[in-house]
Parts: sequence; structure tokens; C-alpha cells
Amino acid sequence: MATNIKKKSILDFRRMMAQGEKIVYLTGYDYLTAKYEERAGVDMILVGDSLGNVILGYDSTYPVTMEDMLIHCKAVRRGAPNTFIVGDMPFMSYQISDQEAVENAGRFCKDARMDCVKLEGVTDSCISRIRAINDAGMLVMGHIGLTPQFGAQMGGNRAQGKSCDAALKLVEAAKKIEEAGACSILVEGVPAVVGKAITEQANIPILGIGAGSYTHGQLLIFADMVGYFDDFTPKFVKKYGDVGGELLRAFTAYAEEVRSGAFPDDAIHSYKIDPAEAAALEQALQS
Ligand code: KIV
Repeated sequence: MATNIKKKSILDFRRMMAQGEKIVYLTGYDYLTAKYEERAGVDMILVGDSLGNVILGYDSTYPVTMEDMLIHCKAVRRGAPNTFIVGDMPFMSYQISDQEAVENAGRFCKDARMDCVKLEGVTDSCISRIRAINDAGMLVMGHIGLTPQFGAQMGGNRAQGKSCDAALKLVEAAKKIEEAGACSILVEGVPAVVGKAITEQANIPILGIGAGSYTHGQLLIFADMVGYFDDFTPKFVKKYGDVGGELLRAFTAYAEEVRSGAFPDDAIHSYKIDPAEAAALEQALQS
């Protein structure tokens, strides 16, 4: 079911940034969740490679493939036809060359109808990939700070920019990413003062997840904030629901009722037959 919501564009996000209007950003991975996010008026949805942890049950994002991402991006697009959606480029979909990065970004935009792609990293090759994707006419969002695809090199998924030197490197990286043509930057897992410094120096919308309150918008993983994913919960997550608790309650009640015979109740949950047809059936079965 399409909503009457008007899809926002990069121009809307620039205007919101200029007017100090916060951008609401949430991850989504499937048709149903995306439908509710669009109904709730979420400004931007990220089909993140956190899909690996949240939906596919991996212990990291490394195993996620382009095919996994495209299936879920298409489902999210069907659920939220009027929302700006960002497709997250999975590990090894952009690392090898500019050409491969442009081809895969093209699959996100052309096959899955994403509005933008996102890629992690601050290295020279990452900057080059951003420039190449932008030159090809697509919107690309940078992702700096805690970048899980560099988790092995970071010694695990831990907060970044905790020293003056490390913080300044992130501010510099954000500038380079902006110069390379990124339409926006996601900053993850940094102290609030670092999120503030990056935001103050930027001319493009800065979105934060665990980066304090100063960024132009906020992202959360939907399954964390509705109390659904409970393998681990980062410090910056606020829970707005208890979906996991509600599922457990419903599944347990269903199991009890099936076992006791309370469900289904034939008077309510069963299809009816004309009494004459029922009598004829009974007679036929007896003969
Ligand atoms: O994959 C994702 O959902 C992300 C966020 C955690 C930043 O990249």
C-alpha cells in the first residue's frame, strides 16, 4: 500500500541541514518493516550490511554478498516506495577497483532502485571509489569512525576518534570525502565532541549513529531500537519498544493453545459449509 508521503531528495536533506531540522534515519531490511517506517514518516532508510548480524545471523558483516543486499534492497523498496533509501555496499563489492565499485553501485541504483549507496572507509582507495561513483552520476554516502568492514584492522568494533590525533584524522577524512563528491557522511561510534567537530566543518549533511546529538540527523538499527535484536546492544541505543518480548509472548501463547486444543476454535477460526453439504459429505463417507 503506497502512502501519500512525498519522497525526499538530496535537496530536501540539504535544506533540512541548513534549517537545523533533524534528519530521521533508520535501517530496514524487509518489506513489512519498511512499510511501517514509511508510514511513521522516517526520512531515510538504510538497507545496511548489518543485515548480516540482524537478519542472517552471522557474527559480522563480512559474509554479506551483493546478492543478499539486492534481495533485501528490493524488498525494502517495495515496502517504502516513497522514501529515500540508501543501499550499503557489502565487503568486497567496492574494495578491488573503481570500476567494480561503479558497476556494483549501478546494480543498487538500477536493479534495486536505491537512491544512494554507502561505503565505509577513509583510505585513498575509498576516496577514489566515492569520486568514481559520484562521477558516474550516483549519490554516494561516506561512512567513517567505527567501520565494521575494517573491524579486523581496528581490533574489533570499538569506538573511534578517542584521542586528539585520531579525532583530527576523522575531521580531515570527512573533508576529503566531501571534496570527492559524497552527498552525505555517516559517522559511527565516536565521542560527541568529535561528531560535533565533523558536523561544524561540513557543508553536507552529517548523520550520526553513536556520534552524539550534534549531527544533522540520527541513525539507529531498527532491530535494536524496537527491542528485537538482543545478541548485543551498543551503549548508544535507546529502546523504544519490546518487539522481542511481544513475539515471545505471542509464540508461547500459541504453542500452549495448540497443545491444549484451545486453538483453533471451530466457531471462530474455521471455514463453514452449508449444513446440507455437510450431511451429504457425512453420508458419502459412511458409504
Ligand atoms: O550496516 C549498517 O546498518 C550500518 C550502520 C550500523 C551504520 O552501516
